[in-house]
Amino acid sequence: MTYQQLVERINLWNHAYYVLDNPLVSDAEYDQAFQVLLALEAENPDLVSPASPSQRVGAKPIDEFKKVEHSVKMLSLANAFSLQETYDFFEKAAKELDVSPSALAIFSEPKLDGLAITIHYDNGLFSHAATRGDGQIGEDVTHNIKTIKSVPLKLDTDTPPEKLEVRGEVFMPKAAFEKLNRLAAQQNSKVFVNPRNAAAGTVRQMNPKIAAARDLQFIPYSVGEYQNKHEFTRHSEIIDYLVSLGFRRNPHCYAFSGSFDAFAENYQRMESLRDSLPMEIDGIVYKIDDLATQNALGFIARSPKWAVARKFPAQQAITQLLGVDFQVGRTGVLTPVARLEPVFVAGVTVSNATLHNMDEIERLGLCIGDSVEIQRAGDVIPKVVKVVEQSEQRLPIIMPARCPVCDSPVARTEGQAAFRCTGWLCCAAQGAERIEHYASRRCMNIVNLGTKLIELLYNKGILKTIADIYKIQLHDIASLEGQGEKSAQNVLDSIEASKTTKLGTFLAALGIPEVGEGGSKNIAKYFKNLPAIQSASFEELMQVPDVGPVTAKSIVDFFQNAKNQAIVADIINAGVNWEDEQHEPAQAQPLAGQTWVLTGTMSVPRHEAKALLESLGAKVAGSVSKKTDCVVAGAEAGSKLAKAEELGVRVINEAEFLAEFNLSS
Ligand code: IVH
Repeated sequence: MTYQQLVERINLWNHAYYVLDNPLVSDAEYDQAFQVLLALEAENPDLVSPASPSQRVGAKPIDEFKKVEHSVKMLSLANAFSLQETYDFFEKAAKELDVSPSALAIFSEPKLDGLAITIHYDNGLFSHAATRGDGQIGEDVTHNIKTIKSVPLKLDTDTPPEKLEVRGEVFMPKAAFEKLNRLAAQQNSKVFVNPRNAAAGTVRQMNPKIAAARDLQFIPYSVGEYQNKHEFTRHSEIIDYLVSLGFRRNPHCYAFSGSFDAFAENYQRMESLRDSLPMEIDGIVYKIDDLATQNALGFIARSPKWAVARKFPAQQAITQLLGVDFQVGRTGVLTPVARLEPVFVAGVTVSNATLHNMDEIERLGLCIGDSVEIQRAGDVIPKVVKVVEQSEQRLPIIMPARCPVCDSPVARTEGQAAFRCTGWLCCAAQGAERIEHYASRRCMNIVNLGTKLIELLYNKGILKTIADIYKIQLHDIASLEGQGEKSAQNVLDSIEASKTTKLGTFLAALGIPEVGEGGSKNIAKYFKNLPAIQSASFEELMQVPDVGPVTAKSIVDFFQNAKNQAIVADIINAGVNWEDEQHEPAQAQPLAGQTWVLTGTMSVPRHEAKALLESLGAKVAGSVSKKTDCVVAGAEAGSKLAKAEELGVRVINEAEFLAEFNLSS
């Protein structure tokens, strides 16, 4: 396959995934092709195509936003807040045209709640993109818009127009917004009020890597400058044309004639769809579809006389903060939740709103008693947006010292955002999460005790802690809906079979914060038996390779909790067992202190090569840096090899690697 064919293939996969929501290949296949592309480009920098998917993210942040003058003005729309206002708008237009309103061909589109962007294509290739600004002059945001995967870098046509300006909305889908805010809350950084602010904030970043890491989307709704190849008679034809060029289609567009009843029916349909849409919409845009009629009507002030935005009711309201509760999540994180004077907003009575974390409360300057503005958007959890008026008898919001569920101390790990309950195994709020982790394949591997069954048994109160797994009776499971004696027996058998394990695996299964698989293995190897770990001091734990102060403290805290100790004792009494680690004769570690990187394809499996290097004392890292001592480059090694060469790191090939350690392929 030629380089150009590879570019086209990956772009085709991108289109299927990001525009049609219909993936053609697995992530692994995609990643592999992308790596090959990067390797080809690294070797032949002159070859790199502007349409290559590697060109979406620029290497450097921009210094400033350049101004862009719009050759065709970017207008906005008049608003209508009721059915009557909508109908009146088109009745007026019909009068001017001397026709009846129901003779007008109307095209309705969801009003996407993001920001207007215009994208210029020259001879089919992405050239630059700008914000609306004041309608006449916008800001160049090419670096960020290019990272949006639903924006084609090359239009899908053999006969591209010389110039085409595609206008539309950049927005953040609801799921991406929730994910972004969850992450921000965890890291105690700023959470966004709504998807629109998140999208606008992302487009206005200097560094394109930020935009690339967030899931923005683009949907076109019109064209600006256009040097014709096709003649259009209808707006909806323009949309079809843009879709054929590779853009996303706005879902739920309808064509109908402009009668009062038709507008009424359309509004109802869109309002009932609203919450189920993957993106936020704040209304419906109604447009006269016929372009000649649009031209005949023209514009008034800064908006067209042939289109109107029917807005949905406001989603903000003002109410009073009555108090703050602290909810303990499945992972033990305490989240402050605002208790509000109930208020009706966007069709629902709201009495709770999330406050995310303590830093958010500080940022809002919020105290109990204050008047606050809240925002409810679709099925998204309502949020407190700002303090409107401070109360005279305001009370500060304080994180409780003990967990409201299990009364264990609450702690904040240094360098981390969240406050957590330290009850871990004994805290009922965390039970299901801990049990699922404990039983999972990588931990105790209780094959027939899956997530669903755990949830059921947990909700029935049969499983409260991980120790309860060993108390499950046949009828506990057999009496559940959809379970019989046979499947229940299978569960009990797999619990029994899982009892013989390894010390490191058991330690990882306990789910002590910061103690993962690798750390557990090292700790087991170092201390050899459980009692030694249970009584280890912070200083002793710090001696274990790769164990830092956060992990060491977490282990000490965990075993200092008497309830945790009791649960561990119950489990061992129930028969969970392992062979203690043996004292091994010290093995020579010629690579101690070195960092190696494996890349490309080798005839020895990657994990074996890794294990070998580790047994000789090396650390095996996933990426190349100045600190890397050696890179082993197999066949088709790509960007890591290039990086190593750039940094002057020692590189050996597979044959040299095998020879160095006396292996044969
Ligand atoms: S048409 C000449 N269609 O709403 C008018 N706008 O105030 C061109 N918007 O700035 C706009 N969805 O950012 C149009 N389907 C849609 C839209 C839409 C969202 C935004 C757009 C515009 C604002 C109008």
